[in-house]
Amino acid sequence: MSTAGPLLPDAARVHVRAPGKVNVFLEVGRVMDDGYHELATAFQAVSLYEDVWATASDDFSVSVHGPVDTSGVPLDDRNLAVRAARLLAGKTGYEGGVHLEIRKGVPVAGGMGGGSADAAAALVACDALWDTRLTTTQLQGLAARLGADVPFALQGGTAVGTGRGDELSPALARGRFEWVFVTDDGGLSTPQVYAELDAHRERAQTDIAPAARQPVVDPDVLHALRAGDPIRLAASLRNDLQVAAQNLRPDLVARIEEGERAGALAGIVSGSGPTTAFLCADAEAALDVRVAMSASGHVAFSAHGPVPGARVMP
Ligand code: C5P
Repeated sequence: MSTAGPLLPDAARVHVRAPGKVNVFLEVGRVMDDGYHELATAFQAVSLYEDVWATASDDFSVSVHGPVDTSGVPLDDRNLAVRAARLLAGKTGYEGGVHLEIRKGVPVAGGMGGGSADAAAALVACDALWDTRLTTTQLQGLAARLGADVPFALQGGTAVGTGRGDELSPALARGRFEWVFVTDDGGLSTPQVYAELDAHRERAQTDIAPAARQPVVDPDVLHALRAGDPIRLAASLRNDLQVAAQNLRPDLVARIEEGERAGALAGIVSGSGPTTAFLCADAEAALDVRVAMSASGHVAFSAHGPVPGARVMP
C-alpha cells in the first residue's frame, strides 16, 4: 500500500498529455456475448490533445476547460478520468485522492476518443503522482476496463485493434499524415450509433452481406500506413459506423462532400461521429481545407498523425 506522504514541490503536480484518435479503418462485425461488437480497426493518434494536471488531494474531483465546447462533460463520478483515478487507487490500495484539471483539445462526444484520452492520461498521471509504479501491462489492463478506446490512448502511434478494439498490435507507419477535423455541436452517443448500425443492417439484410464474418483490417490500409502514402490511404479509408452516424445526422453527407470539394483527398466520419475527418495530401492542402471549411461557418482544426500516446510532460 502506498500513502500520500510529504510531496516534493516538483512531484506536487503531474502533467500528462494524451492524444485524440481517428480510425482510418473500422469494420464492425457481430455482437459478442458481452454486448460489444467485434471490431477490426486501425487507429492513428493525432495532434489534438487532452492535457491533464493531477494534484494530490484527500478526495476525487475534476475541473474541465479548453478550446472545445466542454459543457457536455460530467464533473462527477461519471467522468472517465475520475473513474480511472478511482480504479487505480482501488487496484493499488492508495488511500488518498486527486484533483484532476483537464484542458480539452479533443472535441467532446465527437468520435475522436477525448474521454478515453482523459482516462489514459489520468491513469498515467496518478501512477506518477502516487508513485504506484504499475507496469505498462498493468496500466493497459486497467485501461481496457475503462473503455474500448482507452488502451489505444495510452499506447498512441498507429495500431490495429481487434476484439472490442482494445486488443492492440502496433502497426508500422512512416511519415506524417495531415488531417482537418470539423467538429459539431450535436454530439452523438456511441451506443446509439452502434444501435443504429444494428438497425440499419437489420433493415438491409436482404441487400447486404451479414456481419457474421470475422472483421479484418484491409491490407491496403496497412500498406498505405507503412508507405506513408496519403493518396493510397485516402483510397482505402473505411468506417462502418459512418452510415449509422449519417442516418442519425443526414447533414454529415453534404459536409464530407464539401470538405472533398475544398481539396481534401477524402473525408470520413471519425469513429462514431459527428466529427468529420479530412485526409489531405500535405500541410498546404490541409490549410486550404481548414480555411474553406471555417469560411463556410464550420469549426475546423488541423492536426497530424501519428503522435505518441499518454506521457508525462516535463
Ligand atoms: O467501451 P466504450 O465505453 O467506449 O463503448 C461505448 C459503447 O459503444 C458500448 O457501450 C457499446 O454500446 C458500443 N461499442 C460496441 N462495440 C465495441 C465498442 C463499443 O458495441 N467494440
